[in-house]
Amino acid sequence: MVEAPDRNLALELVRVTEAAALACARWVGFGDKVAADRAAVDAMRHMLATVEMDGVVVIGEGEKDEAPMLFNGERIGTHQGVAVDVAVDPLEGTELVARGQPNALAVVAASESGTMFDPGPCVYMEKLACGADIEEQLDLDAPMEETLEMIARAKGGRVRDLMVVILDRPRHEEMVGRIRKAGARIRFIAHGDVAGSMMAATPDTGIDLLWGIGGTPEGVLSAAAFKCLGGQLVGRLWPRDEDEAKRARDAGYDLDKVLTVDDLIRGENVFFAATGVTDGDLLRGVRYQRGGARTQSLVMRSKSGTVRTLQATHSLEKLAAVAGERYR
Ligand code: FBP
Repeated sequence: MVEAPDRNLALELVRVTEAAALACARWVGFGDKVAADRAAVDAMRHMLATVEMDGVVVIGEGEKDEAPMLFNGERIGTHQGVAVDVAVDPLEGTELVARGQPNALAVVAASESGTMFDPGPCVYMEKLACGADIEEQLDLDAPMEETLEMIARAKGGRVRDLMVVILDRPRHEEMVGRIRKAGARIRFIAHGDVAGSMMAATPDTGIDLLWGIGGTPEGVLSAAAFKCLGGQLVGRLWPRDEDEAKRARDAGYDLDKVLTVDDLIRGENVFFAATGVTDGDLLRGVRYQRGGARTQSLVMRSKSGTVRTLQATHSLEKLAAVAGERYR
């Protein structure tokens, strides 16, 4: 049976990430991550309201009381059409924008209703990710030295040829020591492990593996990207203290469970859009030009496996009529 082509929601969601990127790119280098995030959230929400879907935010800006907009559980879109779970990160890498550093992204993902993992009280998870060229299963419990050997073998090279991307955090010190001892090279990133994991899944970025403890929301968004790009991502919830662990256990979470891409997003029709805010390894950031701006985005869908890079030119003058002062 051949299915008829159907709607690709990602092609509409990219307008949402473009809007967020255009709004917060004005804050690059201003040292104000809160203002940058606020601009991105506001613009994203304004555009999301136009997307024909009955969306529920599963991964959002937090609980309602702390996040006035795009809070977990909020209904978004036109409230008509396809019912979807939505993960948003209007600005992934707030500090990167504040400091004018690379790889800040605006990101949205959607999948069939009820298919997205809700991390509950767990803020962090351990993550290990690589590209589709590695056939052997990644094992979160295998010693890192063995994982590096396995990846090197699969790539037909040596451990010393490998590059591992890791968030630069004191909690990673011990593992960093072991990776160095094993002989692999490390690319430290200040923030942004969605971009980091996508680099591991994308050929020619020079990154072979991502490891580290980063945000659970970012883990779910990365899983959405991996559904579309291919590659492997495995993770495990990483409670910060006994209180968080207890709250997670009480809520029914299994803290020992290794979460695969399919556990993080159970759907088979996953849509993903990301727009570059600052220049990065995957995407160019927002560039301003006379009367307007240019953006570069990734638009992907798991069902078809289509990965598009989308260049857009925006007239800030004309946009003002529909978006007010948001992108000025
Ligand atoms: P924000 O954009 O919310 O600041 O998150 C950036 C980020 O670096 C994520 O990419 C990463 O998963 C997480 O923060 C790591 O958290 P922490 O900075 O607390 O170690």
